[in-house]
Amino acid sequence: MDKMLKDRHIVLGVTGGIAAYKACDLVSRLKKRGAQVRVVLTANACRFVPPLTFETLSDNPAVVDTFEPRKSLEHIALAKWADAFVIAPASANCLAKLANGIADDLLSTTALAMTAPLLLAPAMNANMWRHPATQHNFKTLQDRGAKAVGPMSGHLACGDDDVGRMAEPEQIAEALEALLNPRRDFSGKHVLVTAGPTVERIDPVRYITNRSSGKMGYAIAEAARDRGAEVTLVSGPVSLAAPAGVEVVPVESSADLCAAVLARGEWADVVIQAAAPADFTPVNVSESKIKKTGGGMVLELRNTTDIARTLGERKRPGQILVAFAAETDDVLDNARGKLEKKNADLIVANDVTRTDAGFGVDTNAVTLITRDDQRALPVMSKRAVADAILDRVKAL
Ligand SMILES: Cc1cc2nc3c(=O)[nH]c(=O)nc-3n(C[C@H](O)[C@H](O)[C@H](O)COP(=O)(O)O)c2cc1C
Repeated sequence: MDKMLKDRHIVLGVTGGIAAYKACDLVSRLKKRGAQVRVVLTANACRFVPPLTFETLSDNPAVVDTFEPRKSLEHIALAKWADAFVIAPASANCLAKLANGIADDLLSTTALAMTAPLLLAPAMNANMWRHPATQHNFKTLQDRGAKAVGPMSGHLACGDDDVGRMAEPEQIAEALEALLNPRRDFSGKHVLVTAGPTVERIDPVRYITNRSSGKMGYAIAEAARDRGAEVTLVSGPVSLAAPAGVEVVPVESSADLCAAVLARGEWADVVIQAAAPADFTPVNVSESKIKKTGGGMVLELRNTTDIARTLGERKRPGQILVAFAAETDDVLDNARGKLEKKNADLIVANDVTRTDAGFGVDTNAVTLITRDDQRALPVMSKRAVADAILDRVKAL
């Protein structure tokens, strides 16, 4: 593993959420990357994981109490020592306190004294996350320069499958690496990314869609943004938080997606098509709900416009087009065929029958195919895949 955090000083704040146990793994991952880690917990975090666990893992005292007798003022000492401050998990309460400058415990007082960059990994129940107060607080913090990783969608401790899960420790460690080792190799470039599924209406209550979660496209948009690009993300309906600093254009149908992409095709230096637009759409959309009859029903579908091919036909000199090939059979042959048919420069092929790659999950295993090269990447986080795709685009 690259020691990209070698000798960097990381203060990790842990708040009172069930994901606090994952912060233990985060400490280990940061240490493996060469970082020195000091942990500050809220009193409520100690109800989930005792400070002793963090002390042992970080090899440093884990602190909770502002007023415990010490040689120096701990909140000031931590703030001076830190190269970065990461709060994982960041509770709704913590976001609210930080957004309002409240300093009533060691973690929040340290946050106020801190001048090092702040990375938040929020984690909470989906309704707490969607609450306008939380959204407002989160936006306030982002507008002030805080970076964020997650929250992700998936299984929550409360039993729901929804948004609010803390990003995985590996994703948080990668986000910290990116924060402390910024690459600006896409600055001045316009990157257009598509993400998510499309929804093709049958009648006012029924539609056809697919299993794309949008996670891959969102990771690409965030990576391109972090590397200095001006990014537009055309997104089908997904349950992911809009990335800060990225223009998000929400679309519904394949036709909407096509129109949004073609309207910006000329502007873009790079187009990365991670969305899964429908290939077929109903010939007739009923204005009223189609009644159930005893005789079953035949739904007539027509082909949608092939967006990747249309972009390929209109490609301007110097423009790079990246398409995804989500396949279940003959993955590489199909992907290579796509390279020619769509006049693309790079095809990202993934086998969507794997359980650790493709739809819905946070990891992916892809093969990057260009006209003269083919590279199979191991299973890695979608963010790491996103950076690998951008590295390949840069080489082109
Ligand atoms: C079992 C349990 C799990 C909780 N999980 C979360 C959570 O994931 N996110 C959150 O914002 N609050 C969660 N809470 C509520 C917080 O612990 C509560 O708002 C607390 O005041 C947060 O304090 P702190 O921000 O000072 O750590 C949970 C509470 C309990 C009892």
